[in-house]
Amino acid sequence: MVNLRIPGPTPLPPQVLDSLTLTMISHRGKSYEIIQERIVKNLQHFFQTKNPVYLLTASGTGGLETAVVNFFSPGDEVIFFTCGEFGNRWSEIARRFQLKVNQVSFPEGRAVDKDVVKQTLSRAKKLAGVFITHNETGTGVLNDLFSIAPLVKNHPAKPLLLVDSVSALGGVNLPMDRLKIDVLISASQKAWMASPGIAMIAVSPQAWARHKTSTMPRYYFDLSLYEKFAQKNQTPATPAVSVLYSLDASLTMMKKQGREKIFQKHLTLRDYFRNQIRKLGLKLVVADHEASPTVTSIWPPQGVDEAVWRKLLREKYQLVIAGGMGGLKGKIVRVAHMGFVSKKDLDQVIVAFKKSLKEIL
Ligand SMILES: Cc1ncc(COP(=O)(O)O)c(C=O)c1O
Repeated sequence: MVNLRIPGPTPLPPQVLDSLTLTMISHRGKSYEIIQERIVKNLQHFFQTKNPVYLLTASGTGGLETAVVNFFSPGDEVIFFTCGEFGNRWSEIARRFQLKVNQVSFPEGRAVDKDVVKQTLSRAKKLAGVFITHNETGTGVLNDLFSIAPLVKNHPAKPLLLVDSVSALGGVNLPMDRLKIDVLISASQKAWMASPGIAMIAVSPQAWARHKTSTMPRYYFDLSLYEKFAQKNQTPATPAVSVLYSLDASLTMMKKQGREKIFQKHLTLRDYFRNQIRKLGLKLVVADHEASPTVTSIWPPQGVDEAVWRKLLREKYQLVIAGGMGGLKGKIVRVAHMGFVSKKDLDQVIVAFKKSLKEIL
């Protein structure tokens, strides 16, 4: 069996796979409404919020665009704190929708520095929003929202705080309400153990107030429509029903397993994997205190072409891992450990690394 260790889509548990064979139903009928209601309730539990969570038929990027077009007007001044390709992508979306973007970038492999956040915020007079990627999947860095969120929320201009947690939420503790996050986004194919095709977005009352005055053009991603239909536990357009079946099945499993246990499992597996990688003599890209609980980046040994290595792993060892992105393209490899993953899966990675490197070196 293939060991799929890319940071999404991630492997699906058998119960989730089974759910994908369920028959089609009307998305305007009671059976559907019961499913959507249950999914939203379970998502609120994992987002740790009382705010509404909307289900978009889109990948994570659709969620990022939804955040840009619903709460701002062209010309609004915003800050992006970025440390990799997914932060870059989000800021590019904002530029295309004519926001005035101040992008503060940190080196790839490093987290957003809270002292720099503090200084940058202290210089900002007009500030409509602050955007940050919780887990930068391109490098394997987890940003510390527990220290950054209060800095943003104490700013006198009362900016919205918008967080992309596409590749962490569900597996990592990020209490939306406690941290006063205004807009929080995730996507089904990551730690949620569901198939790709659904982005989730939760919206605070402060963000809703902004939505009312936002003049940005939008249609498919207009959250007013989502809110209207959510009253009936429906979506404005036809939802990806099968993907929702899978999300419903995975959330039911996750709820049974328990939120804290899942968070702890991700931390334990991260630490275990990093130790095993070190024992192989390989170097990690990210320092321990900034390391992502869901994806780990590794420098290939000197003289090893990462593409050649990954091809060998894929073809001979049935192990699929990711390469680098942006400035790290061709330079690193990334191994995901989010959602449906066990110590055994990671042991297989280590064995495959050991054997394959013996062949190459
Ligand atoms: C942090 C982050 N943001 C956004 C995205 C984009 O999500 P999608 O590929 O589902 O559009 C990804 C995908 O890997 C991601 O990891």
